[in-house]
Amino acid sequence: MEINTSTPCRNIVPLIIVAIFAAYILLSGGNNNVNPIMENNNRMTESELTNIAHRGARSIAPENTLIAARKAYEAGANMWETDVQFTKDRHLVLIHDETLVRTTDVESVYPNRNSYAVRDFTLDQIKKLDAGSWFLDSDPFDRIDQGKVTQSEIDEMEEAKVPTLREGLKLTRRLDWKVNLEIKPVGSSAGLIVKNVVGLVEEMNMEDNVVISSFDHSLVKTAAELNPEISTALLVEEPEPDILESMRETGAETLNVAGSALEEARAIENLRELKAAGDKYTVNVYTVNEQDALKRLVRYPLVDGVFTDFPGRLTSILES
Ligand code: G3P
Ligand code: CA
Repeated sequence: MEINTSTPCRNIVPLIIVAIFAAYILLSGGNNNVNPIMENNNRMTESELTNIAHRGARSIAPENTLIAARKAYEAGANMWETDVQFTKDRHLVLIHDETLVRTTDVESVYPNRNSYAVRDFTLDQIKKLDAGSWFLDSDPFDRIDQGKVTQSEIDEMEEAKVPTLREGLKLTRRLDWKVNLEIKPVGSSAGLIVKNVVGLVEEMNMEDNVVISSFDHSLVKTAAELNPEISTALLVEEPEPDILESMRETGAETLNVAGSALEEARAIENLRELKAAGDKYTVNVYTVNEQDALKRLVRYPLVDGVFTDFPGRLTSILES
């Protein structure tokens, strides 16, 4: 028996079109929309978004060095972000990883060590290290390959050192700029590190130039208690339903969340509740680099700032 499919097909085509249209409306206009691609209303002006250079402009310079900070400033970032740790002799240095291996030549300068942890090296030892050549050799974001780094910048990077917090703050002050200091959780010395960071910020009169953040929320609370004049931020991957309570308890007014949180309906709802609780609460998202994603975030109403390795890219978007 021959089956005639023509009539059912004609009937089903308009239904499919209606279903696709309905799905589009649902995704693009609904309040529970989890996709920043689609949510494009409410922001008053696009330039409200804070451009935060993640570990400096780390796509075009070795991360967490003074060169990366300066390049971020030149690229138009509103502030830079860097990571703070203790050395063995309790100096504060700017470095992300727990060890010195990835971002310095420590293994060739100090071969056969049992530990390459930052906390196992004195400041003098760390200052002997080359913190730039790894970047030139590995070109982690292909920016050297693409001609985005000049020869004179390359020459300068060969001299790069791990900076102290004091050096980072001095540069920030000279540029009349801002910095987000992320304190890495460091076990037993946690209380001391936050005390020393706050003490240095106070000594340099830089309360207005600094935000202190950490994944360890007790450190954030301590910082806020030590000096309420210094802004503080909680770092989380995804905001939980009790996030407002945590903000109130710690005294933080900024929440730094992972970009992936914006793909979770529950996390978005928690952010909405936080924002609804008062204008003083700001939300920054880390770490976003793709051009399209940055463009979407510029128009995303729950987000006030973005950490990016490409501050120049975000500046161009904000200016366009
Ligand atoms: O502060 C935002 C971001 O820097 C947190 O992640 O691993 O880059 O320090 P991480
Ligand atoms: Ca960080």
